[in-house]
Amino acid sequence: MYDVSKIRADFPILSRQINGKPLVYLDNGASAQKPQAVIDAVHRGYAQEYANVHRGLHTLSNISTERYEAVRAIVARFLGAGSEEEIILNSGTTEGINMVSYAWAAPRLEAGDEIVLSLMEHHANIVPWHFLRERQGVQLKWVDVEPTGALDAEKVIAAIGPKTKLVAITQLSNVLGTHVDVTRICAAAREKGVAVLVDGSQGAVHAPVNVAEMGCDFYAITGHKLYGPSGSGAIYVKRERMEEMRPFMGGGDMIRDVTKEAVSYTSGPMRFEAGTPGIVQTIGLGVALEYLMELGMENVAAHEAGLAAYARTRLGGLNWLELQGTTPDKAAIFSFTMQGAAHAHDISTILDKKGVAVRAGQHCAQPLMEHLGLSATCRASFGLYNTREEVDVLVEALELAHNLLG
Ligand code: ALA
Repeated sequence: MYDVSKIRADFPILSRQINGKPLVYLDNGASAQKPQAVIDAVHRGYAQEYANVHRGLHTLSNISTERYEAVRAIVARFLGAGSEEEIILNSGTTEGINMVSYAWAAPRLEAGDEIVLSLMEHHANIVPWHFLRERQGVQLKWVDVEPTGALDAEKVIAAIGPKTKLVAITQLSNVLGTHVDVTRICAAAREKGVAVLVDGSQGAVHAPVNVAEMGCDFYAITGHKLYGPSGSGAIYVKRERMEEMRPFMGGGDMIRDVTKEAVSYTSGPMRFEAGTPGIVQTIGLGVALEYLMELGMENVAAHEAGLAAYARTRLGGLNWLELQGTTPDKAAIFSFTMQGAAHAHDISTILDKKGVAVRAGQHCAQPLMEHLGLSATCRASFGLYNTREEVDVLVEALELAHNLLG
């Protein structure tokens, strides 16, 4: 039984006030709050168990290494990966996608080769591909978003041509909340011998993921959106793809031997984990994922579907509010503008006075905003601890903003 008030009690920050009002945290798309178990793990990691990993023979280093390495298996379980050998631990999606760009795509793609991506990617899944366009003449092929905010999987598949080497696609738009049928895209791409990178920054937060069933080659997640520490994350890389990757960053931990003349590299995921990692952050990520698995991601998804339906009805009743993304099954992420001249920043400032935290701006997704013809929107993005009462507070605060600005 999903008891949201019990869950809320796990997140200490949710009981604080902002500007004299109870916090209504609706900026989960940007970063989620942390449960006490994660905060405790970070505290314990530094207060009692801290040492570097993979290097020492002393007790603390062994504890720290054991805790850190255990996270690989936790991530594999959370993502439904066949083996922890397919999990590279890192600092988040941005590092994961940059790694794929540098270590897998750059040596394989030539001038004129294509990468297919959608207009609703966020910058972490755009800029690393622009690097390849700028540096080696790779073509970026953009797939349009439908007026409802949906991304038609068939259009993505139709964009895959003889020169396409990679499809890089989000599972869930951080601005529109719309889902993408990535399983369908992966199946079609596989038939054509094209690799697929799925950006799971938002997708993994809102529903169960199974990369083996999805059939993707790469799947990136970021810890801070998954109720874990910032600076933590991971990427699933299918075994065959990992074998094709050249080393990414060079340094300690990823080598076998270094001499004055030569270097040889270790195998497996650690080949892509140079230097001292975010040890405690990663340990915290493991605790966050265990927390989510304990709740059950299917239960989180059901709770959020109820919230999305309620929010859609309440926000849909405000005839001066323009919602972006209207597919009926979309996630509980609502971007909107207000009719008239009200700027998103002013709306969010008024909401903040009422304790309501939303993001305003371009949401790290400028090509999408350009496509929508908007310079900025406000975005209310819900998480596993949000309630219908908080939707009501959001609506009241919006009514106030409309009265003041409209
Ligand atoms: N990509 C993050 C967001 O959606 C930061 O806000």
